[in-house]
Amino acid sequence: MNIHPLRELLNDEPLMAELSATYGTPLYIYVKDQIGQNVNRLKHALEPNFNQSHICYAVKANSNPHLLKLMKSYHPEIGGDCSSPGEIYAAELAGIDPKKCLYTGNYESEPDLRLALEKGCYINLDDASSLDRLLSIGTPERISFRLNPGFGKGTFSQITTAGENAKFGIPAEKIVNAYINAQKAGIQKFGLQCMAGSGNLDGDYFIELLTAIIHNTKKIESELGIHFEFVSMGGGWGIPYKDEETPLDFDSLFKNLSDVLYSHYENKDEAPALWIEPGKSIIGNTGFILTTVTGLKNSYKNYVGLDAGMETLMRPALYGAYHRMYKIGESGKSNGAYDFTGPICENTDRIAFDRAFPTLEEGDLIAIMDAGAYGYAMSHNFNTRPRAAEVLLDGRNHQLIRRRETIEDIFTGCDV
Ligand SMILES: Cc1ncc(COP(=O)(O)O)c(C=O)c1O
Repeated sequence: MNIHPLRELLNDEPLMAELSATYGTPLYIYVKDQIGQNVNRLKHALEPNFNQSHICYAVKANSNPHLLKLMKSYHPEIGGDCSSPGEIYAAELAGIDPKKCLYTGNYESEPDLRLALEKGCYINLDDASSLDRLLSIGTPERISFRLNPGFGKGTFSQITTAGENAKFGIPAEKIVNAYINAQKAGIQKFGLQCMAGSGNLDGDYFIELLTAIIHNTKKIESELGIHFEFVSMGGGWGIPYKDEETPLDFDSLFKNLSDVLYSHYENKDEAPALWIEPGKSIIGNTGFILTTVTGLKNSYKNYVGLDAGMETLMRPALYGAYHRMYKIGESGKSNGAYDFTGPICENTDRIAFDRAFPTLEEGDLIAIMDAGAYGYAMSHNFNTRPRAAEVLLDGRNHQLIRRRETIEDIFTGCDV
């Protein structure tokens, strides 16, 4: 059993009541210490095992610049995995140098490529055809392409990002040509990237993935006489969303991955640097949503209405994702199963399905766990609902890091 690292904090009923009274609900709350622990755990597992390595935090997971700044304070060398001009902007706001960022778009538009090039990001192309678009703007010093190794793995099919059903990357049999074209264009420095799925807790999968990546880089190196500066394994380093799931052991995993990488090179200095692009494993378990019970209904099923619905947290409605939920304060034993839903006029609006839960009353506070990654970042304005506020918790001190959106904010672009 892996009890959630923030479980104890939720027993602090006065603090949760204070946060709710000060900022209102639904409220995203992030815990500073947990961010530090997550960054340090990755850094201390990666650096001793690889001669050269680099962490590009996946900004898409959560782009709040206060949180990015915090990550940078724990790891000053951190870069960003950016997939849009907005994510480059967020990284810069936090003081992260775009020259340490990897830009991975897909079906990249000319304006997006132009910005990434101007900012000096490492550019990672999703297809050989993207190279022509890029060259029409300028020739970068270095390039990487995204490999689709023919297999991928993710918690859900929707977050499996390689294999035959994935829209991402270049199939292994075509990737040599992409590098030939880049070489012909005069590009001299190279990397290779592969992100094959999100939410993996199976260490063997990462071994299989790196083995496939190195098989491809060695083939390209020998056919083209080039040297890869780096290979990026992408993100996908999972976190437990349930007590019965076991977290990855990064120390032993990176040791095993370094064995895979260095077994292919006589000298470690000849091997490419190992890059990773963690999203969930840095920010996922650091954030939770504080929400209020707004209504209870016995229909064909029992429903608990919350002020946080699919507009606040999309993952359950989008993938059927499971998020642990706890009643704040005296909770008692489970008393039946409930569907937890929000205020949205859409029947997919669910936070949990058939969840065993203690007795609840209107006004009770509930925490929805593991909302730090792809929580706020995927929240939206459906039903013209303003987005939640975000708060950073340092011990019992709290700081508002994004104010709650107002209805007027939603209409600022409409000149009526
Ligand atoms: C290119 C790329 N890198 C990194 C990530 C981060 O993945 P995760 O949050 O699973 O670590 C993603 C997520 O979609 C991605 O698309």
